Amino acid sequence: MKALVKKHAEPGLWLTEVPEPTIGPDEVLIKVLRTGICGTDLHIRKWDGWAQQTIRTPMTIGHEFVGEVVEIGSSVAEVNVGDLVSGEGHLVCGKCRNCLAGRRHLCRNTVGLGVNRDGAFAEYVSLPASNVWVHRVPVDLDVAAIFDPFGNAVHTALSFPLVGEDVLVTGAGPIGIMAAAVAKHAGARHVMITDVSPYRLDLARKVGVSLALDVSQHTIEEGQQKLGLREGFDVGLEMSGRPEALRSMIDNLTHGGKIAMLGLPAEEFAINWAKVVTSMITIKGIYGREMFETWYAMSVLLEGGLDLSPVITGRYPAEEFEAAFDEAAGGRCGKIILDWSNV
Ligand SMILES: NC(=O)c1ccc[n+]([C@@H]2O[C@H](COP(=O)([O-])OP(=O)(O)OC[C@H]3O[C@@H](n4cnc5c(N)ncnc54)[C@H](O)[C@@H]3O)[C@@H](O)[C@H]2O)c1
Ligand SMILES: [Zn+2]
Ligand SMILES: [Zn+2]
Repeated sequence: MKALVKKHAEPGLWLTEVPEPTIGPDEVLIKVLRTGICGTDLHIRKWDGWAQQTIRTPMTIGHEFVGEVVEIGSSVAEVNVGDLVSGEGHLVCGKCRNCLAGRRHLCRNTVGLGVNRDGAFAEYVSLPASNVWVHRVPVDLDVAAIFDPFGNAVHTALSFPLVGEDVLVTGAGPIGIMAAAVAKHAGARHVMITDVSPYRLDLARKVGVSLALDVSQHTIEEGQQKLGLREGFDVGLEMSGRPEALRSMIDNLTHGGKIAMLGLPAEEFAINWAKVVTSMITIKGIYGREMFETWYAMSVLLEGGLDLSPVITGRYPAEEFEAAFDEAAGGRCGKIILDWSNV
């Protein structure tokens, strides 16, 4: 079968023939239909320091996908051939304290699809049946392809109660925009999103934020004034990984405010800890998705009318992966989809 492979320990990706995956008794084989390009995939193509330390070649990359189950292992009961599925890309050990307690998102031995094990940018991918999310209500295939980052957005946005609250989202990448849409849909009063990219702020406006603010031109304090806030934001969703974004978020939060932090900073950095302490601010790190509470929430949010279509801005056949990756790396885009159905 064809797969997009990190073949050599150098920059680039190779669309090449690899053996079709075989499945164990607890696994399913999925014919991949569409996939989403993630920042992780861009790091792997670029072969930066993180990728060099993390990826063993050859590795089929990719973890955001939707596909159809074509074969199930002998012990699989809950998933059927013909099911439309997306996949949880974090494979957990099932044996550590958190796994045994049902807190699988906190597994200390997580293996990443398309990072530590062959991934979904291929004609077929195999997964443990316990990592599969069956789409039981009709869903747009492009949206189904990005359930993984949508799950990051939902996990982060729903970490703290939002009803009637004023929410600040820093970073209008695809995940920040989806988180803003979820916050609005879930009953926040004001949702303000920040970025330094006018293109991305325009995208964010399409999901109905109260204010999309360019922080290269304006301060978040100015944004607060525009919205008529008097005591600061109640909840912050950090979605940029930038030190200055977290710092200004802390400065603009109300006393007792909550921060859910998904953005992955490249390096250590300092923040105003005295302010965190004296304002009694809670900062919670967020990784991945809760299995499978977040997935349930995603499906029912869509069923309830949440519209993610503005986030998807590019579609390419898988053979045109170079152009797709170039567009994704350029940043003047939302989510970019690769179509594997005619490979
Ligand atoms: N914790 C996890 O499980 C997890 C999973 C996926 C992604 N992530 C991280 O989440 C973040 C969001 O992911 P994404 O795919 O949307 O990333 P992205 O890189 O597409 O978006 C980040 C955005 O932040 C903007 N930005 C830069 N400086 C800013 C500033 N000072 N203030 C506000 N915005 C600023 C950028 O212009 C960009 O649009 C990234 O840091 C990513 O590494 C974490
Ligand atoms: Zn991803
Ligand atoms: Zn575990």
